[in-house]
Amino acid sequence: MKLSRLLHSLFLTLCAVLLQPAAFAQGDAKAGQYIAKAGGCVGCHTDTKTGSVPFAGGRALETPFGTFFGPNITPDKQAGIGKWTEADFKRALRQGERPDGSHYFPAFPYPSFTGMSDKDIQDLWAYLQTLPPSNRANQEHALRFPYSLRFLVGGWKMLFFKQGPQQAAAPANDPVARGAYLVNVLGHCGECHTPRNFLGGPDTKALLSGAVIPEGKVPNLTPTRLKKWSDAELKEYLKTGNAPNGDVVLEPMSEVVTNTTSQLTPEDLAAMVAYLRTVPAHEGIAAKK
Ligand code: HEC
Ligand code: HEC
Repeated sequence: MKLSRLLHSLFLTLCAVLLQPAAFAQGDAKAGQYIAKAGGCVGCHTDTKTGSVPFAGGRALETPFGTFFGPNITPDKQAGIGKWTEADFKRALRQGERPDGSHYFPAFPYPSFTGMSDKDIQDLWAYLQTLPPSNRANQEHALRFPYSLRFLVGGWKMLFFKQGPQQAAAPANDPVARGAYLVNVLGHCGECHTPRNFLGGPDTKALLSGAVIPEGKVPNLTPTRLKKWSDAELKEYLKTGNAPNGDVVLEPMSEVVTNTTSQLTPEDLAAMVAYLRTVPAHEGIAAKK
């Protein structure tokens, strides 16, 4: 009796040990590379002007509040995020919080990335681990007072930040749901295409209806304007940057096309277009274009 009990508990311990790897499943770096493209991570985290290595940071991002510099997110232990755990990474994307608990500025589009699925975060983390570490040091952001006060972001988050994911991962057979995920979560298209109030809070009632950013006007993506483009024309634009009237896409959208939309699978591009057709039509208040 005693022996069988002992064997039984040994058996359970063995099972626990054998099942362990499942609980610590590694993300899929290849899938994570695709998520990184869909999220346009490389753009804000690479200083293309001085030719720094991809993801080593230094890219200047102009905003109405000052200039942000994308940090080094390579796995370098000192200069990058090499000391982070996967949980730290998830917290950054989901909660917009540093490992020490302080807030990130929403120039890092975590208000969109918060909706990422656990699997996509895990895969993305696995991919970042495969990058060559770079010791490029981070720069201080150059922000106007009082926007430079990081703790004030806590107030901003109370007003405008809703932690995700707010919806379950899109089922594979639902292009509109997949498209919504690609546009609103990974692609963070609304960070430029949705108008903002003076505090930088998105006007969610005017979702994707166009805005004004420091670089200029951003067009309305709701059916009010996009209905004049066929699905094929829209896909062509997102794939190549060529508009139906012969115009070629300008900055900063050209970067979105290069880093993100031109890299997506045909199914994902079609899903994006399918979703854009379902966005509530809106005249657009901020930028008529
Ligand atoms: C629109 C520009 C932009 C995009 C796109 C962007 N980031 Fe960032 N990211 C930033 C900025 C700016 C910060 C710094 C925020 C701060 O200092 O509060 C940041 C911070 C981070 C940090 C924290 C680094 C640290 O040292 O604390 C991580 C991790 C990160 N981003 C990962 C990503 C990933 C992964 C993606 C793609 C899914 C991504 N970012 C896309 C602008 C961007
Ligand atoms: C960094 C800001 C920014 C982001 C992020 C962004 N866009 Fe744009 N987008 C622009 C600007 C600016 C233009 C106008 C470009 C031009 O005039 O050539 C534009 C133009 C467009 C157009 C052409 C519309 C028209 O009527 O001319 C489409 C379609 C579009 N964007 C889709 C998207 C999608 C989809 C995403 C997300 C994957 C996205 N954009 C993300 C800034 C942005």
